[in-house]
Amino acid sequence: MDNIKALASDIQNVQNIVAFTGAGISAESGVPTYRGEGGLWTKYDPSKYASIGYFLQDPSYYWNFFKDVRYPILKKVKPNKAHLALFEMEKAGNLKTVITQNIDGLHQEAGSTSVIELHGTTRTIICMDCSKKYTLAEAFAKLAEQIPPLCSECRGILRPDVVFFGEMLNPEILQDAYAAAASCELLLAVGSSLVVYPAADIPLRAKRAGAKLAIINKGGTPLDSVADFVINEAAGLVLPQLLNPK
Ligand code: APR
Ligand code: ZN
Repeated sequence: MDNIKALASDIQNVQNIVAFTGAGISAESGVPTYRGEGGLWTKYDPSKYASIGYFLQDPSYYWNFFKDVRYPILKKVKPNKAHLALFEMEKAGNLKTVITQNIDGLHQEAGSTSVIELHGTTRTIICMDCSKKYTLAEAFAKLAEQIPPLCSECRGILRPDVVFFGEMLNPEILQDAYAAAASCELLLAVGSSLVVYPAADIPLRAKRAGAKLAIINKGGTPLDSVADFVINEAAGLVLPQLLNPK
């Protein structure tokens, strides 16, 4: 029985699955990954647009990246078959929660109701001074007035509600993710290079707590050697097959 079929039959008997996702699950929606060929980081300098240090020094760099790259992508992308398959698994009662490193909001758009966003979300924009929240469209409209966009209430500078490099992850969110990983029977790690910590520790915690670990990722990862299943194929191809083992 091939790996996908073996994993699919395992899944039918498991009630508590947790999915752990990275940029690769959104690649087939047209959201560029960070690493690997054509990755975002081969074109834009993450030490500028993705780090809190540079944002505080020059917020316009991020907001120009947002205007030219981030917003046009977020406006057009839709969930793909992989996101939808995880929602089907939730509806079937097998999948308890999705822990995601992604900031694109596509799991919620696919219908998933339990999503832990480790790195925040680009779909919410907040004021650095008074924490007033803005939608993507409101923030984008403000860019026509000035860059960086300012808060309507207090004139504070707006920022995306994401975890920049150089910032700590929200401890409560991380604890929720650790608890979900420690109590699951099977963790599906989908579309992540599993190189960024503390996020990449989550599949290991599931494994150490006795869960099976399945890695579905086009490229290799440092955790392949401890995984029960390694499937190096596209998420949009594999995940639907896990729903209906032929
Ligand atoms: N299906 C499955 N895997 C895919 C697909 C696909 N269609 N397309 C690409 N991949 C794989 C790549 O081989 C790569 O290993 O997805 C992985 C994406 O890895 P990264 O680009 O490193 O993304 P991720 O693991 O989510 O990065 C973690 O790093 O940049 C920070 O905060 C950012 O959340 C991000 C974190
Ligand atoms: Zn404000």
